[in-house]
Amino acid sequence: MKISELDNVKSQGTSMDRINVLPDEGVSRFDGMDILSVKQFKHRDLDIIFDVARDMREMVDRQGAVDILKGKLLSNLFYEPSTRTSSSFAAATQRLGGNVIQINNVTFSSVSKGEELRDTIRSMGSYSDAIVLRHPDEGSADIAAEVSEKPIINAGDGIGEHPTQALLDIFTIVEELGTIDGLTVTMLGDLKYGRTVHSLAKLLALYDVKLNFVAPDLLKAPTALVDSLIESGVGPCKHVDLDSIISETDVLYVTRVQQERFVDQSVYEKVNRSYAVNVDTMDIAKERMIVMHPLPRVDEISRAVDKDPRAAYFRQMEYGMYVRMALLALVFGKV
Ligand code: NCD
Repeated sequence: MKISELDNVKSQGTSMDRINVLPDEGVSRFDGMDILSVKQFKHRDLDIIFDVARDMREMVDRQGAVDILKGKLLSNLFYEPSTRTSSSFAAATQRLGGNVIQINNVTFSSVSKGEELRDTIRSMGSYSDAIVLRHPDEGSADIAAEVSEKPIINAGDGIGEHPTQALLDIFTIVEELGTIDGLTVTMLGDLKYGRTVHSLAKLLALYDVKLNFVAPDLLKAPTALVDSLIESGVGPCKHVDLDSIISETDVLYVTRVQQERFVDQSVYEKVNRSYAVNVDTMDIAKERMIVMHPLPRVDEISRAVDKDPRAAYFRQMEYGMYVRMALLALVFGKV
């Protein structure tokens, strides 16, 4: 269904049956589902999400907003800092005609009185229709989903996963380069603690890609991740030097060092500023390469690169809003 037709759709109510693994096809299968991990998605699901995201972009260009989520309330529950994920979910909900309860600083909520995550989730679920959760503990989204009557969307669980970021990352690549199959994707930075990398690498395994890892020794991708990628047929997934790989890279995915994950800050100091993308890097890169970054950028991409048309990281944010609009429309059963 085209988004232009969505305005006329009568509210169908959202089924609260939990579907954690999507069947092969059918948008109705998204209705009421939790989004916890990229492992839930198959190739066909991504095609559905991206088709709806394109419709969303057209709709926003044309009229800015619709009211298919009128009467729907989203809880944005963030136990960790966020600019883009939190704001883009809020923007997505509001452009679809819904409303948002925003909890950005849990120290001003009952969490500071010692309330357990499960109870906070039950509370937010009794007021709203879906909960977007960011939390420092790996596995927290699964715990939330166990107790929640309403769909949970994982907006980052510690060093675990960030599935909606990975979906928007893939959408960015498809929109910018026209395809994913056949590309060489190089991931640079904190591959140990970066949850965006963990989710994106797993999702890229659904495609025919060559994946390279470039990281300081202390921040290499976890062995379990590398092994699972090799098992899914992505190929060797080696850690290499950026110089040896840059000229054959189609997508350079850069991440910051995740300072907040280091127990010992002296270890962070050892790896901080140990890599950077600058104009010299771009000089030897392909003419059609794109540079992506989930942001925030600290100093791992020099500001001079921002002017280069191959710098896709600011466009990536906008793609993110359309993907999140698509996910919300699908989860609320409006597509
Ligand atoms: C990322 C995150 O929170 O994992 N940011 C984001 O969601 N756009 C990456 C990061 O914080 O480095």
